[in-house]
Amino acid sequence: MPSPTIVLAGAAGDLGTRIAKALMARGATVRALVRHDVSTADRIHLTALGATLAPADVQDVHSVTSALEGAACVVSALNGLRDVIIDRQGVLLDAAVRAGVPRFIPSDYSADFTATTPGENRNLDLRREFMARADQAPIRVTSVLNGAFMDMLGAEMPILQPKIHRVLYWGSADQPLDFTTKDDVAAYTAAAALDEETPRILRIAGDSVSVRELAAVVSEVTGERTQPLWVGSLGTLGLMIGLAKRVAPQPGEAFPAWQGMQYMRDMFSGRGKLQSLDTDRYPELQWTSIREQLTRHRPG
Ligand SMILES: NC(=O)c1ccc[n+]([C@@H]2O[C@H](COP(=O)([O-])OP(=O)(O)OC[C@H]3O[C@@H](n4cnc5c(N)ncnc54)[C@H](OP(=O)(O)O)[C@@H]3O)[C@@H](O)[C@H]2O)c1
Repeated sequence: MPSPTIVLAGAAGDLGTRIAKALMARGATVRALVRHDVSTADRIHLTALGATLAPADVQDVHSVTSALEGAACVVSALNGLRDVIIDRQGVLLDAAVRAGVPRFIPSDYSADFTATTPGENRNLDLRREFMARADQAPIRVTSVLNGAFMDMLGAEMPILQPKIHRVLYWGSADQPLDFTTKDDVAAYTAAAALDEETPRILRIAGDSVSVRELAAVVSEVTGERTQPLWVGSLGTLGLMIGLAKRVAPQPGEAFPAWQGMQYMRDMFSGRGKLQSLDTDRYPELQWTSIREQLTRHRPG
């Protein structure tokens, strides 16, 4: 049987590259949807991975439709704001329908935005809006929701403060938080792209730990006693978000500081917590625990 062709948008990106590798490891043919003016570096990178390049005008539905012909699934790993998540993914979705592609995986990869409060997290609002649009389209759509990327613990998600031997938290130190490594998300997404029976939403977490548990793991892997440090209530965090938006709005940035804080609020409030996990759907997959991740990438 010929290997199914999966079209990947954003294939040269961080998560996209990992999904491309995972798809190829499963025997899929990967077609990377790229802009006509794709950089030489991205062209070389994608070709070296083993992907076929499908250049298109990514704003034009006719052009993208041609690039999607014959695919079993379109996977988006695009990153950005409204012009990407709504507009460019919208073109991708319409083109997938026109090309007769049966399945679509949007670039969601986040906390559970079906349970969070509209208006409280800009990036999750965009995903919720795209979900409503995708659910009107005659194509089977599957979202992969994975909590926070575990790899971001540290500089990008600075709740770990090894110099002062503390793990910061808002609200409760006992609120479980979901984490999954980028490679584990990619491996699962590849499996889902090749699985014709996926439900509308797949929820996964490589590990779910509270800050109290996280501090214990940090103590264990560093050999230095680390404790939770309460930095405020969720109300205080809300005030900080409002202040950061005024002082440094950065409206064109996908991840300004206030956006990071909005994710923190959804995690520490428990509203974005993933329930009834689908983590065991593909038994061959192995999951990286917080302990393994922090042993490999020791905080400090
Ligand atoms: N849960 C988490 O903790 C977490 C953390 C980080 C990211 N994510 C999510 O993971 C997904 C992929 O993220 P990533 O970090 O892998 O993405 P990335 O590498 O920053 O970008 C992926 C692709 O998106 C396109 N792109 C990026 N910025 C753009 C812009 N400003 N305008 C137009 N196109 C742009 C580019 O594709 P072209 O070259 O084809 O234009 C790029 O290769 C996103 O949904 C992101 O929100 C989740």
